[in-house]
Amino acid sequence: MKFIKVKTYEELSKKAADIIAAEIIHKEDCVLGLATGSSPIGTYDKLTEYNKEGTIDFSKVKSVNLDEYVGLDGTNEQSYRYFMNKNLFDRVNIDKANTFVPSGTAKDIEKEGEEYDNLIKSLGGIDIQLLGIGLDGHIGFNEPDEFFTAATHLVSLDPSTIKANARFFESEADVPTKAITMGMMSIMQARKVLLIANGEAKKEILEKAFFGEITPKVPASILQLHPDLTVIFSEN
Ligand code: GLP
Repeated sequence: MKFIKVKTYEELSKKAADIIAAEIIHKEDCVLGLATGSSPIGTYDKLTEYNKEGTIDFSKVKSVNLDEYVGLDGTNEQSYRYFMNKNLFDRVNIDKANTFVPSGTAKDIEKEGEEYDNLIKSLGGIDIQLLGIGLDGHIGFNEPDEFFTAATHLVSLDPSTIKANARFFESEADVPTKAITMGMMSIMQARKVLLIANGEAKKEILEKAFFGEITPKVPASILQLHPDLTVIFSEN
């Protein structure tokens, strides 16, 4: 594991974007595993900048996102599909048909999960997976549990996650209670994993996840077993 500590969110975002940009330059038709939340916004801004100045070309890039809220379709401003369009896809020359987010409105979420895993396999797997981390150690929406779940699956969100994510909604009551998330199999099979976290509040969970016991009670701790993991932390 490479653990990189920087001072500012700006530095973190540039480093993360540089690592992803290198991947795109190295393999023009790479598969990016992408994340939502506030942490990757600066990274997406930087990638947009690199694309506008001609340093990176997204025309052959494909992407798969980690998760989506159950019940929200892509036109809903709180959906992760909407977030991705707004923060990245609508700003760069990616072909939207090559961008995938699990569907939160599929009738059969279990079947949607199976199809999503098959899709990832048919794309040849993920070249680099970008991740944030929740305060309870969740990655994607893999919440603390008694076991790790391999496949893309339906989850009930932890009350603490609902509380933390309420800042993006009008009220806590508006936060969906369920989500569909990529499981640990697709994340661990990604050829590279890049986890970013910023701010004092994330310090304790990073310590637990990357320097503590590997346990499903801290889902991100499984990443300690990944052969090519980079963690970037910034103090603010
Ligand atoms: C959400 C997402 C995660 C994300 C986490 C942390 O619950 N499903 O993928 O990593 O929040 O978000 P933030 O980056 O805003 O702290």
